[in-house]
Amino acid sequence: MLVGLAIAAILGLVLVAPIALAHHDASSLETAYGNAVITGLSRLNAGNVGANPTTANAQSLQQGRQSYTGSCSQCHGAGGHTQGAFGQTSFPPATDLTSDATSSLSDGQMFYIIKNGLGFTPMPAFSRQYSDTQIWNMVNFVRALQSGTEPLLDVPTPTPDQLTAAKLTSGGDAQKGADAFAAFGCSACHEPSGALSINPVNDNVANVVRNGRQGMPCFSTSLLADVVLIDIQAYIATFPVEGFLGGPNDQPGGGGSAPPAQSGSPPSGGGTSGPCSTSTSASAGGSASPAPAGSTSPTARISASPSPVATPTP
Ligand code: HEC
Ligand code: HEC
Repeated sequence: MLVGLAIAAILGLVLVAPIALAHHDASSLETAYGNAVITGLSRLNAGNVGANPTTANAQSLQQGRQSYTGSCSQCHGAGGHTQGAFGQTSFPPATDLTSDATSSLSDGQMFYIIKNGLGFTPMPAFSRQYSDTQIWNMVNFVRALQSGTEPLLDVPTPTPDQLTAAKLTSGGDAQKGADAFAAFGCSACHEPSGALSINPVNDNVANVVRNGRQGMPCFSTSLLADVVLIDIQAYIATFPVEGFLGGPNDQPGGGGSAPPAQSGSPPSGGGTSGPCSTSTSASAGGSASPAPAGSTSPTARISASPSPVATPTP
């Protein structure tokens, strides 16, 4: 019997584990099973949660939007449709929060799921990050996403001057761009000030997003669609002019090699729709793809100018 168990274990490791661990899309059977388990489990526990004590007023929705955009959009997408940086890359993939399955959850069930997460799935528990009230505000915001009545982000519309300065051919929607900037994780690296802040007069955005940079992933058209990129460009056009990247002080250490002056090209993926590759044809000038570090490459900027770090005082 021991031998039998051992053989079964080895078979499991060799055959089953690779199948289970490899990334694959959820089959409809798996999705149905997952939905049933989630519904049953959250219904069991929602009884202890009680009714939603908050009102979905403007303040609640605004706070819910902020928490949601910061903590959920990278998986569930800014609009709930899983179009975030990681939404489709995990197993199981993030749920479309506007789907029938989620719409039919009660407020208490949703609260329970957000607070406690879903074990064995990528859905994290948020009980340490958010108070109960903040979680209810998110529940209210998800409901607004489902009914299409969510409030817009408070983002200024770029002026014609700003658009011209950023050499944008098409306007784009800065408010949607702000959402996408969070959902695709740009805001995790690019802060409003400091070495990674972006100067709005930067006609290189599309090129950099498609080709990446040293320290910055590339985003293929299949992950981040051209229309979304245009929105992001419109959002960046509203940034304060003190931004570093692409600004007047953004030059390589002492060398004379300026960053490639890419014209304000539309964010064409150059026909590439698969994952970005270093040999992508997306760069119109052909000189902007991430070159091996060193020499005169503009990507050498990171090591050439380390960002200033404050020294702790005694
Ligand atoms: C790291 C990725 C990730 C993050 C971040 C994340 N989720 Fe999820 N979420 C998931 C995945 C994956 C599932 C689906 C699990 C499954 O299908 O079993 C899920 C499921 C859910 C569900 C259940 C939907 C249903 O109908 O079954 C809700 C509600 C939800 N998430 C809300 C949120 C909220 C609100 C936030 C932010 C506070 C958030 N999620 C953050 C990945 C994430
Ligand atoms: C993991 C961190 C990271 C993420 C995520 C990231 N970036 Fe970057 N980005 C960087 C770094 C590092 C640089 C600086 C590279 C350099 O100095 O050449 C950069 C440079 C840039 C520049 C300036 C390029 C130039 O030469 O002027 C722009 C514009 C930019 N990023 C936009 C974006 C946008 C839009 C997103 C989201 C779609 C994004 N980044 C996501 C790290 C990141």
